[in-house]
Amino acid sequence: MELIEGIKSRRSIRKFTDEKVTEEEIRRIVDTARFAPTWKNSQTARYIAVIDPALKEKVADEGTSFEQNRNIIKAAPVLIVQTTVDKRSGYERDGSFSTSKGTHWQSYDAGLCGEALVLAAHEAGLGSVIMGIYDEAKVIEVLGIPEGQSVSALIAIGHPAEEAQAPKRKEVEDILSVR
Ligand SMILES: Cc1cc2nc3c(=O)[nH]c(=O)nc-3n(C[C@H](O)[C@H](O)[C@H](O)COP(=O)(O)O)c2cc1C
Repeated sequence: MELIEGIKSRRSIRKFTDEKVTEEEIRRIVDTARFAPTWKNSQTARYIAVIDPALKEKVADEGTSFEQNRNIIKAAPVLIVQTTVDKRSGYERDGSFSTSKGTHWQSYDAGLCGEALVLAAHEAGLGSVIMGIYDEAKVIEVLGIPEGQSVSALIAIGHPAEEAQAPKRKEVEDILSVR
């Protein structure tokens, strides 16, 4: 798939068929996410692929009170829990912040990795949706995520069972100023 076409045609998919996603497919998607740019190449993103139905159900039931997300997680064959290692992205070696934006760069990096990941899924013919509404403490508890990591996003992946329409985008004129 051509790169720009892939970026423009990717949609958030919230309905999935029962078809499984193989571990090889998951591996290939994460392999692409590794190549996203990150703060000083700090590469703090980590991925937990939850494929065990019982565990996935537990994350859905306990990890979010938002019903839409609960249903998505249950329906998707794979839930990628994206975590990031704290206190590296945007930090100096002595532990001080590198910029006035504090912890901001950790999330920025996670977003770049997340975009690469969902584009790789799209290229593989899979649908995905990034979810930000979850109870971080509960997700950490259910999955036993080690101390020193934050949950940056939940990303459901599976074979699409819907053709989603693109929500309206702002025009270039509305978002670009050239000075
Ligand atoms: C950081 C972030 C958080 C999001 N959280 C949710 C969510 O909790 N639940 C959901 O259904 N969609 C969620 N979305 C998907 C957006 O609603 C979606 O990307 C947006 O409407 C544009 O649609 P598109 O992805 O099809 O282009 C999230 C997307 C991003 C980038």
